Amino acid sequence: PRVLVLFGGRSGEHAISCATAGAVLRAVDRERYDVLPIGITPSGRWVRVADDPDRWSITDGRLPEVEDVPEQVLLPQEAGSREMQVLEPGSPATTLGDVDVVLPLLHGPFGEDGTLQGMLELADVRYVGAGVLASAVGMDKHFMKIALAGAGLPIGPFVTLRGDDLDRDRDGVRARIEALGLPLFVKPARAGSSIGITRITDLADLPAAVAEAQRHDPKVVVEAGIVGREIECAVLGGRAGAPARASLPGEIVVTDATHGFYDFEAKYLDEAAVELTCPADLPDDVIARVQDVAVRTFDAVDCEGLARVDVFVTPDGEVVVNEINTMPGFTPFSMYPRMWAQSGLAYPDLLDELLRLALE
Ligand code: DAL
Ligand code: MG
Repeated sequence: PRVLVLFGGRSGEHAISCATAGAVLRAVDRERYDVLPIGITPSGRWVRVADDPDRWSITDGRLPEVEDVPEQVLLPQEAGSREMQVLEPGSPATTLGDVDVVLPLLHGPFGEDGTLQGMLELADVRYVGAGVLASAVGMDKHFMKIALAGAGLPIGPFVTLRGDDLDRDRDGVRARIEALGLPLFVKPARAGSSIGITRITDLADLPAAVAEAQRHDPKVVVEAGIVGREIECAVLGGRAGAPARASLPGEIVVTDATHGFYDFEAKYLDEAAVELTCPADLPDDVIARVQDVAVRTFDAVDCEGLARVDVFVTPDGEVVVNEINTMPGFTPFSMYPRMWAQSGLAYPDLLDELLRLALE
């Protein structure tokens, strides 16, 4: 089958997407799959890129980026263009229709949020992972929480701010935020990799934290800090309508207190700042509960293919869902593949399973 590996993109997680793609290009079974790597520049242009895993890795803190290649005309062009053809200079046009499956290794808005999935649905091309609705709900922390709460899943208290809600104290948001206690996590509703997130321990810092989040999204979610261990669980869709499966959970421990939480630097640039433990050292009954909540979270948003569900396990063993990521980081060092490797599914096999799921 012909696989279009699509990565980069317009969101703040462009570089993480490139790093994920590098690892995928290295691991994909070349005997089985014909690979067409296409990068999306930060401005939204689709370009044919190097089929070179090393080009796309994060090395020595250098973040990779898809560069514009003016002489290559690959489509869709800049945002707003409707053309769907992928053209390669000097060769016959390749259309999306010639591709058997798209592997959209895109994180964040314009990739993980349903927009790209909608385009692929229109073009009638199969793709790996969540569909339009699950992607959109998984990207939007406000609607994600509503969907999870509606399905009876445990989530933490939060307040959503739109526009100038805070300045105008619309719906008594200030008192509602105060009632959440401290610390608070102030997050852009639609972003990932902790971009734009601030942890605050003083309400005086709230306006600045909201302004920072609003640099990424006019909608902001203010969450109560949950006391508990940060546990993650990988979910993989089932074949032929079989139920989704959960991996052994992993644990994130931020060892360098200067980061305060698992922020962007700790995630990708400062390896010494975090310890990712997999499997997490948890009692069997808690593991079972985490896995059950992870699969129910996956199902609650109608997810398909893959997702990483991030939870807190409180000191009394309660599981609280933090969020679902419908296209989690996917380098071999990322939690999602590591949790599957620990659960008996090695990286290349996991990748193959995801492609087979999309092709079935
Ligand atoms: N948003 C990042 C890539 C993750 O969830 O792993
Ligand atoms: Mg996320």
